[in-house]
Amino acid sequence: MIKLGVNIDHVATVREARRTFEPDPVKAAVISEKSGADSIVCHVRKDRRHINEKDLFALRKIITTKLNLEMSIDPEIVDIALEAGPDQATIVPENRLEITTEGGLEVKSRVKKIKNIVDRLSARGARVSLFIDPVRSQIKAAADTGAEMVEFHTGRYSEAFNHKKNYSKELSDLMRAAEFALKQNLVVAAGHGLTYDNVSLMKGIPGLYELNIGHSIISRAIFTGIGEAVKEMKRLIA
Ligand code: PXP
Repeated sequence: MIKLGVNIDHVATVREARRTFEPDPVKAAVISEKSGADSIVCHVRKDRRHINEKDLFALRKIITTKLNLEMSIDPEIVDIALEAGPDQATIVPENRLEITTEGGLEVKSRVKKIKNIVDRLSARGARVSLFIDPVRSQIKAAADTGAEMVEFHTGRYSEAFNHKKNYSKELSDLMRAAEFALKQNLVVAAGHGLTYDNVSLMKGIPGLYELNIGHSIISRAIFTGIGEAVKEMKRLIA
């Protein structure tokens, strides 16, 4: 069965909108695990716009499944990752001005640099994954870094699907990329922009090990929970 990594960054985004204590992403992680999440994903960004170190270390202590830290190759972030010791480390590109991770990591032109980080994270006990576009040259380069896993950026597929455009090319790119990655002995994951409507076609990706999903789950949680939240507040002020 395909594993589900739940990204809880978006819970922290709501907290940071008020720079307060709620909602607590750690609590969201615990509930996600109790509800079947196979891993918890979080991203400590350079600008700390959502998850911060305090969250990361609290998550490290409390998580009973797997902690998958999304991280850039910035030296400060690499040091934090090495200190925290995640079960999985997913190396992602990071651009300060982006709203979310916009594309895959450029591995091809900097295999040596990324290999050095892969080696250090692996020595710390993390399974390392590289978040890349579903493109042969990047997959080959990812294998050359010694990473165990690749996560394909599904943003193009999701966007085509969501805008009711023809997504068959994007889907077949993902399928072909997975076949190629499996031949390189890489474990295959995928994620970004996946929703309750577009996720089921991901089951067609050969050998897919894991999907990492955040925004759509947190969005859905608002509507599965808002009714109860309003009732509770009404009770308190009655
Ligand atoms: N996988 C990776 C590597 C990501 O960077 C993100 C976004 O943080 C996700 C999965 C989840 O994307 P979304 O929030 O759109 O589901």
